[in-house]
Amino acid sequence: MNSINHYREEFLAHLKTSIAVKEPRNLYEPIDYILQLGGKRLRPVLTLIAADLFGGDYRKALPAAAAVEVFHNFSLVHDDIMDNASLRRGKATVHQKWNSNIAILSGDAMLICAYRLLESYPPDTFAALAKLFSKTALEVCEGQQWDMDFETQTQVSIPQYLQMIRYKTAVLVGAALQMGTIIAGASIENQRLIYDFGVTIGLAFQLQDDYLDTFGDEAFGKKIGGDILENKKTILYLKTLALADEAQRNTLIAQYTTSEESDEKIAIVTQLFRQTGAAEAVRDEITRTTDEALNLLEHITISDENRAYLKQFALELMNRKV
Ligand code: IPE
Ligand code: IPE
Ligand code: MG
Ligand code: MG
Ligand code: MG
Repeated sequence: MNSINHYREEFLAHLKTSIAVKEPRNLYEPIDYILQLGGKRLRPVLTLIAADLFGGDYRKALPAAAAVEVFHNFSLVHDDIMDNASLRRGKATVHQKWNSNIAILSGDAMLICAYRLLESYPPDTFAALAKLFSKTALEVCEGQQWDMDFETQTQVSIPQYLQMIRYKTAVLVGAALQMGTIIAGASIENQRLIYDFGVTIGLAFQLQDDYLDTFGDEAFGKKIGGDILENKKTILYLKTLALADEAQRNTLIAQYTTSEESDEKIAIVTQLFRQTGAAEAVRDEITRTTDEALNLLEHITISDENRAYLKQFALELMNRKV
């Protein structure tokens, strides 16, 4: 296995060659902008690692890794419109820098480009990759719709929330890994196990994203408190409701029925997240979910060394600030 940085560098070099900027500029420049804006490159790196772990040539997984990253970035461009977000990776979002119509169409084009990147694979591999990709992409749409529905739905349970984040975020992490294993020709059983590991890590990843949205710092690259302003029923909100006394609960609900976008709203809600012990409870949940993923690793038939590699990766993710 190589260092994570090695896979990331190779991926970035490959990504540069993936989509050319041409006319019409207003279609392709936003695509280039978002793809070059940085980001952790978590999903494509996982695709490459998975291919390598199962004895494949990880370079053969580069187009699939690019497809996953382009799809992810497409989902961010549209997500930022839906979430009214002005900041992404510390810079202006596409719809803010250009406009919403441009962001919609560039996003659509990215989704198509993502599929095209899979066309370089032989027919059987292409079929397996495209099938997984389509299933995952549709689930992401379902998750995104639930996420928006929950903003105005008064009662949201923790199981409903977990289902929502599984779809909007976790399945793509699972699919990113599985695509690497498909290219390496791993057994169906190992493909399933690595997918389940990825989905569980993906759940921890989104819990962490919700936490950092309130408790992160500038390095996070998004507006701190953005979820609060959008009345998102995040894990912090749900845990606060569960732990709050009546007065606290009434304050939280009152704050979440306004569409007012003020720093005061962020301050009041953040204080409730802390006071009720919800912030701490969410940290525990992130640790518990990561541990669950690590347990799943035990069943995969790979060397202990490779298992340790994946474990290290998961643990580092749990402590991220970005
Ligand atoms: C952001 O994903 C969207 C979520 C699913 C939480 P990342 O945190 O992977 O974003 P980048 O690509 O590193 O910017
Ligand atoms: C991300 O959810 C899910 C997708 C983009 C599909 P968020 O809305 O929490 O992601 P961020 O926080 O804007 O990156
Ligand atoms: Mg969103
Ligand atoms: Mg968002
Ligand atoms: Mg978020």
